[in-house]
Amino acid sequence: MFVDTHAHLTDEQFVGDVENILKKAKDVGVEKVITSGFDVFSSQEAVQFAEQHDGVFASIGVYPCECDKVEKDYIENLRELAKNERVVAIGEIGLEKREGAPDLESQKKCFLEQIKLAYEVQKPIVIHCREAIGDMLNFLREHKALLKFGGTFHCFGGSKEVAREILDLGFHISLGGVSTFKNARAVKEAILTVPLEKILLETDCPYLAPEPFRGKRNDPSFVPYIAENIAKIKGISVEEVGKVTTENARRLFGI
Ligand code: NI
Repeated sequence: MFVDTHAHLTDEQFVGDVENILKKAKDVGVEKVITSGFDVFSSQEAVQFAEQHDGVFASIGVYPCECDKVEKDYIENLRELAKNERVVAIGEIGLEKREGAPDLESQKKCFLEQIKLAYEVQKPIVIHCREAIGDMLNFLREHKALLKFGGTFHCFGGSKEVAREILDLGFHISLGGVSTFKNARAVKEAILTVPLEKILLETDCPYLAPEPFRGKRNDPSFVPYIAENIAKIKGISVEEVGKVTTENARRLFGI
């Protein structure tokens, strides 16, 4: 069995195709999916979607590129949503330093407000971090007291050194399509050093399909390809990867 711990099932690319996609996923052993919001509206959609589909759970939050557009009461909205029993995490939230992203200070403000919310509602966080790993690690160290409920670095694409720092902070590492890419040498090296007990599987679909589907629309049924890559690198069976990562997801998210 597998869990897709990060997907965007409410994306417009899946409209009209959702039942088919969830069936395809179940057929290959992907029995649970966490669908993620990236702003308040998509978080509401994620919760509604999870309520309507067996085996689907929701993660809610405002990701860094949307943090300059939030309403004053957005934390209040998220807090209300978090009461829904299908909500298993706060995220994706974090920092992004790509050109055109909102300024880092407003990102940090939004990130901190949501880390505080996660602490308050006793849920793990799902971190989005792009080109900001130094700032991210410093920020998390500074606020370590709020990280009691743990979390994961979604779509991990870093080196073994970065993985070490993340593990030291008590976080998990979520591996998706990027970890299967032919040029992902550093991530593959990191996979060798990260204990399987700290690894989660995800697709981030409809984006970032794994090899051999790179560039195509991604969906949760591709999770076994990500597991296969990890199994090959670690010299263990795909079943073992499925079993342990499913247990990890159960422990972290309570699913
Ligand atoms: Ni995502």
